[in-house]
Amino acid sequence: MTAAATPASLFAAGPPNPLQNPALLANPYPLYAALRSANPVLRAPLPVESGAGVFVLTRHAEVESVLRDAEHRFSVQRRKADVFRLYADRLPVAILEGPGGMQSMLLQDPPSHTRLRGLVSKAFTPRRVSALAPRVEALVRSLLDEALERGECDWIHDLAEPLPAVVIAELLGVPPEDHRTFRGWSSRLIDALPAFGQEGSQAEVASLIDTLLDYLRRQIEARRKSPGDDLLSALIEARDAKDALSEQELQATALLLLLAGHETTTNLIGNGLLALLRHPDQLERLRREPELLDNAIEELLRYDSPVQGTVRVAIADVELGGQRIEPGALVFCGIGAANRDPLVHPDPDRLDLARQPIRHLSFGLGTHFCLGAALARLEGRAVFRALGERVRSVELASEALVYRTNPILRGLRSLPVRLA
Ligand code: HEM
Repeated sequence: MTAAATPASLFAAGPPNPLQNPALLANPYPLYAALRSANPVLRAPLPVESGAGVFVLTRHAEVESVLRDAEHRFSVQRRKADVFRLYADRLPVAILEGPGGMQSMLLQDPPSHTRLRGLVSKAFTPRRVSALAPRVEALVRSLLDEALERGECDWIHDLAEPLPAVVIAELLGVPPEDHRTFRGWSSRLIDALPAFGQEGSQAEVASLIDTLLDYLRRQIEARRKSPGDDLLSALIEARDAKDALSEQELQATALLLLLAGHETTTNLIGNGLLALLRHPDQLERLRREPELLDNAIEELLRYDSPVQGTVRVAIADVELGGQRIEPGALVFCGIGAANRDPLVHPDPDRLDLARQPIRHLSFGLGTHFCLGAALARLEGRAVFRALGERVRSVELASEALVYRTNPILRGLRSLPVRLA
């Protein structure tokens, strides 16, 4: 941890986003541990008056309780937070939730959320996901063959990025050869999001969203004219009594699935391999005990979560860890921090592929539990099974690792390895 990364200085600094400090991007876990022991429900010392304020949760108990939200005391609509109203004109979320119509389920509360998720679930079924298994296996085989033939690869560029991007493209029914193009847009969008408040970032975010939506509108149009056996066609067809997805909802859902469908899974594959490289005994164990595979994926998800956190807004008075939280407070749920809470996962900084029980929160919890968890697990298993079975040796080709600049969607920019 650098000297600049104390809790107070983190929040006192203005943009650029202080969480984008390279040392923190490389390893945020010491800061999480410090926050968890000093103040697990921290009221962030913001430099501006922020009404009900911003709270940061780093303990498993509180993160779990807010995400589960059994008593409906939290909303996912960021604009309900006092602090977001103050910054409204500067935040990309204003664009995401704005009149542009980005009405995705991720940013809706019940009953709208229930309706949207219900309609989308009619199309995005477990059967559709499990039918992808042979295709995912074949893709992993061919990407890994190419890497093995060369004896080296950039694990991110050559495998972790293309696999989920091609899979989501084929699932949605957009041309798989477009994956490089939409990956370029989406990766620039993810990198631009945390830079809110910086000159020009809002225009960049708005223009990338427009470009992506424009692309998806054309794909939806094509599927309307000639429906196929794909998710976009099924979403167009999805109906419940007289209800169906509106045009805006279709676009927002397609965009959410496209982005969520590959950015996060890339980071499971990338962060997962790095964790194994840093724990060679566990990599060896994966080879020797293939029956550990399912548990291993959960431990990799726990150990270095692709999604490090999410936010909720209090809509009622709540008491959390002895702190009173008022309506309008923004609550940051530290998923990555909760996963390393020693009260739930003893010796949390140790990777243990046989760990039991694992209660990671990497896919969230409650009504917004990740809709793509089964697909992400399917892809993760295919990659790490192939790694255990087909790769005799794999090692880092460079120690100089660079992380992407989004501290919430945690992942490496590249991961050069030698393999045989
Ligand atoms: C390892 C990979 C993945 C991780 C770690 C992950 C993580 C998450 C998390 C933490 C949430 C909840 C966010 C919140 O509560 O605010 C979420 C929601 C969601 N995820 Fe994933 N995700 C992954 C892969 C995928 C894939 C492959 C898809 C789709 C193909 C997907 C689609 C979604 C959708 C649609 C939601 C919104 C659900 C709702 O609001 O009801 N995710 N994901």
